[in-house]
Amino acid sequence: MRYVLIGIAMLVFMVVSLAGFRGDISRKPPLEIFPDMDRQPKLRPMEPNSFFKNGMSSQPLVKGTIARSQPITLNEGKEVYPFEKTHTVVSGFESGTNTVAVIPIPVTSQLMERGREKYNISCVPCHGGQGDGKGIVGYFGFGGIRNLHEPDVVKSTDGHLYRVITKGKGLMMGYANTLDVTDRWAIVAYLRALQLSRLGKEGEVPDRFHVKTKPEAKNSDQEQKN
Ligand code: HEC
Repeated sequence: MRYVLIGIAMLVFMVVSLAGFRGDISRKPPLEIFPDMDRQPKLRPMEPNSFFKNGMSSQPLVKGTIARSQPITLNEGKEVYPFEKTHTVVSGFESGTNTVAVIPIPVTSQLMERGREKYNISCVPCHGGQGDGKGIVGYFGFGGIRNLHEPDVVKSTDGHLYRVITKGKGLMMGYANTLDVTDRWAIVAYLRALQLSRLGKEGEVPDRFHVKTKPEAKNSDQEQKN
């Protein structure tokens, strides 16, 4: 028994002496059992370096280098980079916690097409092709999927929709890692088009698309309006 206790005491002593005092201040060089990656050879960006002909550690970009980050052009023509995280176009916030009212980038037919494509990839499984929340995932028991034609979603700001796509909400995850800033605004634009498709009034339909409505059809039309 005595030997066992002595053994345990020695073990405790060893563990504490080897691993227990990391973080203590000392003037002596530390005993490093696992140096991890505390020190490693590297060049700081603006350091002189004799290896290269021009004597610098940072070298200019090789000809033909492709930029990984493209600027986003705003309505006013200003360019903003995706890493400018506090800018309205990247954050979706106009000031403080107020989301921006309208999409801050030009809504073109290309943007709309991009939105349609990305919506059909990322959102359709849950919200359905028409945005009514009847995607296939719901049939397999995933609950609480929102119908995006509901008045509160229609009334929310473009910035709010952008935030939901970026960060997610409740059971919906955020899409910032798979959809870039422009993709997310493009989806907002497409979502607005989906909503508009159900909010349009008869008078807004161009003449050439007018169909002579039967009396019953007219009634159900009015019911919807009320
Ligand atoms: C995995 C299923 C799923 C996917 C995929 C999904 N959503 Fe959702 N979404 C939900 C659920 C669930 C809610 C309800 C969240 C809540 O209110 O708790 C929701 C809510 C919303 C809302 C309403 C937010 C609010 O303010 O109440 C919007 C807008 C929305 N989703 C847009 C999108 C868009 C755009 C995409 C594609 C980028 C998408 N969703 C992808 C499940 C999903």
